[in-house]
Amino acid sequence: MRIYFDHNATTPVTPPVAEAMTQALLEDFGNASSVHHFGQRAKARLDEARSDIGRLLHAEPSEIVFTSGGTEADNLALRGVAEALEPTGRRHLIASAIEHEAVLVTLKALARRGWKTTLLPVDATGIVRPEALEASLTDQTAIVSVMHANNEIGTIQPILELARLAHVRGALFHTDAVQSVAKIPVDVRALGVDLLSLSAHKFNGPKGAGALWIKRGTRLTAHMTGGKHERNRRAGTENVPALVGLGVAARLAVEKLAADAGRLSQLRDRLEEGVLSRVAGTAVNGVREPRVPNTTNISFDGVEAESLLIALDLEGIAVSTGSACSSGTLEPSHVLRAMGLPAHRTQNSIRLSLGAGNTVEEVEFFLSKLPPVVEKLRSLTRVPARA
Ligand SMILES: Cc1ncc(COP(=O)(O)O)c(C=O)c1O
Repeated sequence: MRIYFDHNATTPVTPPVAEAMTQALLEDFGNASSVHHFGQRAKARLDEARSDIGRLLHAEPSEIVFTSGGTEADNLALRGVAEALEPTGRRHLIASAIEHEAVLVTLKALARRGWKTTLLPVDATGIVRPEALEASLTDQTAIVSVMHANNEIGTIQPILELARLAHVRGALFHTDAVQSVAKIPVDVRALGVDLLSLSAHKFNGPKGAGALWIKRGTRLTAHMTGGKHERNRRAGTENVPALVGLGVAARLAVEKLAADAGRLSQLRDRLEEGVLSRVAGTAVNGVREPRVPNTTNISFDGVEAESLLIALDLEGIAVSTGSACSSGTLEPSHVLRAMGLPAHRTQNSIRLSLGAGNTVEEVEFFLSKLPPVVEKLRSLTRVPARA
């Protein structure tokens, strides 16, 4: 039995997505910029995908720029706005301390080129306090970037309130919604943001496909330059099959979101309660609500997270110690550290993220395997009492 509880790292492509992609790959091979029949056919498939994303986000299709994924969407948002607003003298950028590396490392790169940057703290539950943003905003702030849902702990930020504060000071607001799109309702107008990133492979679409929603009228400089693709905002021949896959995944999300979210939160809660009641010395990291329905992050006293991950993998269960990008290093999670958790919790925590294919049987199997695995790891590291 192999169980996959790592859907925040990536999700499997579902059969309708794979079928639509295969068809696009074999039949819609034209260059979407070509005037002839083949080109127009490819363009029609892209238009369809753009409309499907528009429906998912309650946005105009013309406001959607296709990218190679969440990382590129975040880069385009931050670099694009920073550069466009540079002549206005707005050279200050703000992001939360618990952003994905796609935002944090981009901010560092811009800091090296002379932009002033501020990282907002989060409280012990993983939430950015509006007062913290208010205190950091200046008349020079160009853009504020705060993620909608966190990839490690799943907590949801008060985006509307934060965006309002940014707007009062004339700054733009970007949200990385890579971990919330298709898990909870995402309405760009209701969130009050100016830019929003998403990535197909987090909701049963293919890897290497994503989008940046840019509110009409927002100033942004393209950073991939070349042809006039994507209304001059992102040059390069579009990857039609991958974007068709993104569109179908978005369409299916619109149809299934409410039902999936209800089922997943029940499953996640059963898993969480099961762990807390069967294994002593465990605690949930981050606030439990508001949180995306599929994610939990739990610390295990006296157990090193990497060892637990490997021991569970040997039992056929895939979990994660945080963001996939930082696994392989023994760096404690920057998210848990920012929340002020003590070292023994930042290094002893695993993330369980469920997806549409997971079942009650899988959760029960996990709950039956976990206690002896934890017990064994604890016995290996326990210091023998002195005589
Ligand atoms: C919150 C967040 N932002 C951005 C990304 C990067 O997206 P992609 O893998 O499509 O580049 C991820 C992926 O882990 C993520 O979780």
